[in-house]
Amino acid sequence: MNRRSFLYLTSASLMLDVARRRWASPAMARRLAAYPFQLGVASGDPAPDGFVLWTRLAVDTTRGDGGIPPTPISVRWELATDASMRRIVTSGIATATPELGHSVHVEVAGLAPQREYFYRFMTNDATSAVGRSRTAPAPGAKIDRLRFAVASCQNYEHGFYHAHRDIAQTDMDAVLFLGDYIYEYRSKDRPRVHTLPALQSLDDYRTCYAQYHADPDLQAAHAAHPWIVTFDDHEVEDNWAGAIDRDGSSPAAFLPRRAAAFQAFYENMPLRHTSVPTGPDMQSFRTVAYGQLAQFTVIDTRQYRSDQPCGDNFKPSCDARLLESATMLGATQETWLANALATSTAQWNIVANQVMVQQLRQQRNGRETVNMDQWDGYPAARTRLTDFLAARRPNNPVFVTGDTHQTWVGDVKVNFDDQKSRTVATELVGTSITSGGDGSMKNRFSDANLADNPHIVYNNDQRGYFLCDLTPRAMTSALRVADRVTTRDGQITTAAQFITETGRPGVHLAG
Ligand SMILES: [Fe+2]
Repeated sequence: MNRRSFLYLTSASLMLDVARRRWASPAMARRLAAYPFQLGVASGDPAPDGFVLWTRLAVDTTRGDGGIPPTPISVRWELATDASMRRIVTSGIATATPELGHSVHVEVAGLAPQREYFYRFMTNDATSAVGRSRTAPAPGAKIDRLRFAVASCQNYEHGFYHAHRDIAQTDMDAVLFLGDYIYEYRSKDRPRVHTLPALQSLDDYRTCYAQYHADPDLQAAHAAHPWIVTFDDHEVEDNWAGAIDRDGSSPAAFLPRRAAAFQAFYENMPLRHTSVPTGPDMQSFRTVAYGQLAQFTVIDTRQYRSDQPCGDNFKPSCDARLLESATMLGATQETWLANALATSTAQWNIVANQVMVQQLRQQRNGRETVNMDQWDGYPAARTRLTDFLAARRPNNPVFVTGDTHQTWVGDVKVNFDDQKSRTVATELVGTSITSGGDGSMKNRFSDANLADNPHIVYNNDQRGYFLCDLTPRAMTSALRVADRVTTRDGQITTAAQFITETGRPGVHLAG
């Protein structure tokens, strides 16, 4: 089976059906009530010699415990160089424990760089679908192209995952997922329904992930490519900041919920053991390198930030916003980020970021407002970052960003109030996979608001994702959008393409 036919199979979710049929064993039926790989398979955080393999056992996707008995279960994993799993190169046994939601995280090492591999899991007589992954190139290797998707914000209730189907059918090296993998609240009058009310307990969060993972298009996208994932706010709660929740509860009241949310996030993502949470704390910022061509620097803009000033969301500015002590990354991570960029020798420095870096001034009720949850709420921290980029000039910084449920493509300026000031980076704010429902031009920024933000090159309110192609000479980013997500028959097309040329910070429309 070649790669194209493999991608076709995963996208059609036929592999799961094949795997289910293979599992029709009376012996297994006595042990578990049903097929235990209903949440699919995934891989993540590629390195030159390996990646993480993930699955989580569940026979019932409507329950937090997956309907699995509360005992450890041995799971065999196999890695091969062919999709039909004939040429096995390594294998092993992992233990899925109830303490970690019967998830399996295998950190495979010792593989060849820049190479495609296939994997699957087995427990007793049940065999999972086959996933495909790919190692990163050797350190310093001169590769001439890299393709990745930038995705975020996949509210299950708001629509169908046509964008994930498209990602599954498209050949690429990796998927960056920038947060809002789940949503903790319930919506009304939407095309799909969460089985749970608002999430609070570990069992709630586990159940929510099980429902998301049961989606065939999402499973196909995970099975087709390695993912590099991080969280934003809705994996825990809307607009949380550090130890403070949206309503300003005490840390003592909020942190147990954060601990439950982080544990469920770890259990459900292809993350390395370095991200196993310790109570309410979870290590997420990290780098993933692709030879000499690119370094992905994943940052965490939630866990260490100071509270939003002046109230959440779009508000007029207030004195608290201008405090020098305000922080988006926390002191430790700010130093780490500066070091990661200053020491990077990669040609492209892709910063996987959650909330919009660019300034976004908006007139509301005759007053100028900015979104206090974005970097706009923390201008002193943003200036420290842009001043650093201006002074140290790491190679070709590009922020890829989630959160806003719209596409914003623009130039990151040293001073956003002076369009003539230096451009130090490009930012691509990807839209959402589904969050917000079908796009509406009335939600798009008005021409008057865009005129207040001249660094912005493009704005779009449709759902979708970015497909980015890197070469030593340029980054070309295609905005892939769905005509609708509220019905099962949505179609994905390219709305626009954007180019950033090496050595020239900033972005322009192609063609
Ligand atoms: Fe979101």
